[in-house]
Amino acid sequence: MTPLPGDHFRSATGPAVGPAVGQVPGKTRLRIRRATEDDLPHLARLDEQAFPHGPYPFFVLRQLLTAFPDFLLLVEEGSELHGYVLATSPHEAQSWVLSLAIAPALRGQGLGRQLMTGILGHLRAQGTHSVWLSVEPGNETAVALYLSLGFVPDPGGPRKDYFGPGEDRLLMSLTL
Ligand SMILES: CC(C)(COP(=O)(O)OP(=O)(O)OC[C@H]1O[C@@H](n2cnc3c(N)ncnc32)[C@H](O)[C@@H]1OP(=O)(O)O)[C@@H](O)C(=O)NCCC(=O)NCCS
Repeated sequence: MTPLPGDHFRSATGPAVGPAVGQVPGKTRLRIRRATEDDLPHLARLDEQAFPHGPYPFFVLRQLLTAFPDFLLLVEEGSELHGYVLATSPHEAQSWVLSLAIAPALRGQGLGRQLMTGILGHLRAQGTHSVWLSVEPGNETAVALYLSLGFVPDPGGPRKDYFGPGEDRLLMSLTL
């Protein structure tokens, strides 16, 4: 298997091969864990801050947690939610990362990268071989993060109106 940048990330509760949950190395108070129903109101608030023009409605978040309970990871410090990542469970060895968000005040400190490496390690351990995501072509921070993790942009470039009129998206994929 191809090594991932997060391969050093050891699970606190499971084998090292599925580094989805545990403490963030070097940051003793930060912890990555799976979300529960109790987290949903906090998640919805964070999503509104991160995606002010199109957060997930609460009912969608709830259904996504129900559908993919093992693939919604949070990063928190104490009881404070700092960010989340959401992916789909593998289907024919393929998964999608549906969302990634870090609280505005806490960006640029490596948390987005930690969540991505955590979910990618977990997905690989669960049998995913190819991961896809869509990103706004102008979202330079997110595109730079995904490129640095090895994601490859769709050679055809951004897809026009992918999420409706004026909502172009660039698809990116990674082979694990
Ligand atoms: C995208 C997002 C999740 C990144 O999280 P983050 O914790 O700030 O990112 P990190 O600190 O882990 O940085 C990871 C990489 O992102 C890129 N990056 C981070 N801040 C950046 C900035 N201001 N400008 C350009 N690139 C930047 C760099 O490549 C960085 O790697 P480096 O640390 O080796 O330089 C965060 O900005 C966010 O929540 N944005 C709003 C929601 C969003 O756009 N989500 C993605 C939807 S597809």
